[in-house]
Amino acid sequence: MLRQNHKKALQHPIFELISLAAKELGLDCYVIGGFVRDYLLGRSDPKDIDIVTVGSGIELAQQVASKLEGHPQVSVFKNFGTAMIKTKDLELEFVGARKESYSRDSRKPVVENGTLEDDQKRRDFTINALALSLNDANFGDLLDPFNGLADLEKQCIRTPLAPGITFSDDPLRMLRAIRFAAQLNFTIQLNSLEAITEHKERIKIISGERIVEELHKILMSAKPSKGLALLHKTKLLAFILPELSALQGIEEIEGQTHKDNFWHTLEVVDNIADKTDDLWLRWAALLHDIGKAPTKKFHKRIGWTFHGHEFVGSKMVYKLFKRLRMPLNEKMKFVQKMVMMSSRPIVISEEFVTDSAVRRLVFDAGDHIEDLMTLCEADITTKNPRKQKKYRNNFKIVRQKIVEVEERDHIRNFQPPISGEEIIRAFDLKPSKEIGIIKDAIKEAILEGEIPNEYVAAKNYMIKKGISLGLVLNEEFE
Ligand code: CTP
Repeated sequence: MLRQNHKKALQHPIFELISLAAKELGLDCYVIGGFVRDYLLGRSDPKDIDIVTVGSGIELAQQVASKLEGHPQVSVFKNFGTAMIKTKDLELEFVGARKESYSRDSRKPVVENGTLEDDQKRRDFTINALALSLNDANFGDLLDPFNGLADLEKQCIRTPLAPGITFSDDPLRMLRAIRFAAQLNFTIQLNSLEAITEHKERIKIISGERIVEELHKILMSAKPSKGLALLHKTKLLAFILPELSALQGIEEIEGQTHKDNFWHTLEVVDNIADKTDDLWLRWAALLHDIGKAPTKKFHKRIGWTFHGHEFVGSKMVYKLFKRLRMPLNEKMKFVQKMVMMSSRPIVISEEFVTDSAVRRLVFDAGDHIEDLMTLCEADITTKNPRKQKKYRNNFKIVRQKIVEVEERDHIRNFQPPISGEEIIRAFDLKPSKEIGIIKDAIKEAILEGEIPNEYVAAKNYMIKKGISLGLVLNEEFE
């Protein structure tokens, strides 16, 4: 059910103020785009407000700023003819109504001033072209020449112009159509969907940053598989995430098949979306199997294998982030780590769960152990209820063991109980490889459960190990 009372959308005092500023300049102006769409849909109060005026958006912004408390700064983007004001709770963007067309040979738009309807026509979707008047004569009226309201009701994404024109004007819109379909759980009108398939290659001219912004939004939707399946269906996926396209398909040799790792991945992403809003954990779910395409092999005796896919996959994460101009920072390292470790809890749970295996898992995963377990549980997509139950139960046991081992051994943020300094003092050493050997041996003994993670035990172990290496204990060492 859409919200009916359009005037109510304009209750915030900012709208009266903008209306007055426009009147003083003799301009007409309107709220347009996401704010109107989200208000009608009853989505939470949007903070970004787009204002279009039949005249100069920059002048209107300056007039508005002069009336606002503290006269906030106006950021002017002359090339785009837009201006922005940030207040403490809102972000206002002003633009002059435009007639815009792009010449095919150059990417530079040819921009002319236009009417409100010209401007609405050149927007991406009818549901984003809805405008509310801020003018005295019809304050709060909905101006909807392309039937965006009906499309909102039908939950349909449709372009105001022929879709080929709208998408060639800005190919990012192909991705936006899919993102809105995923976010709002809407359907893309058939013509528009076909036009995306037809124009998919044009996505190549769009920067990685803009593509990633849309991918983030698809991943953060309630059921990301909806958007990802549309990317696959329109074949856009092969241009933006070819590593995932490569996972699609089932091969058969000598009657032996493997699972389709693309559709499996989509299930994993939906599973994880039910458990966490962490964007990067969702990325990890999306990429956890990408190493499977390049490592796939068929062996006569054992069938299909993907040996080392976790290692190969984590290397691919770096290349993928770099290509899409995503930050190569600790977020990327987190995704790499999750991909690298994605099979570890499964391997443990398949055998008798030993304390030392759990200690090693916690040592390697560190503070990300919870996230890793969440990922592995999301990875269970078998439709066999008996297997489902078995896997879930196994992970329950691993989780219990993690808690027990952690309470006892404090491995999670492992700090060596004996420092290098202390080893140097104990054996009167100069910096040498023996220090590393002894430190490593202590760590191994703790992880194996030979000694507890405690100072005295570690010190005794150090002395024993040093002597076995032929070192002489300093007599003054306590
Ligand atoms: N727009 C467009 N083509 C684009 C991007 C934006 O026509 N490639 C228009 C749409 O009318 C859109 C408005 O500009 O509603 C504002 O764009 P933006 O802030 O990116 O999107 P919103 O619709 O506000 O939605 P969201 O905040 O969810 O991104």
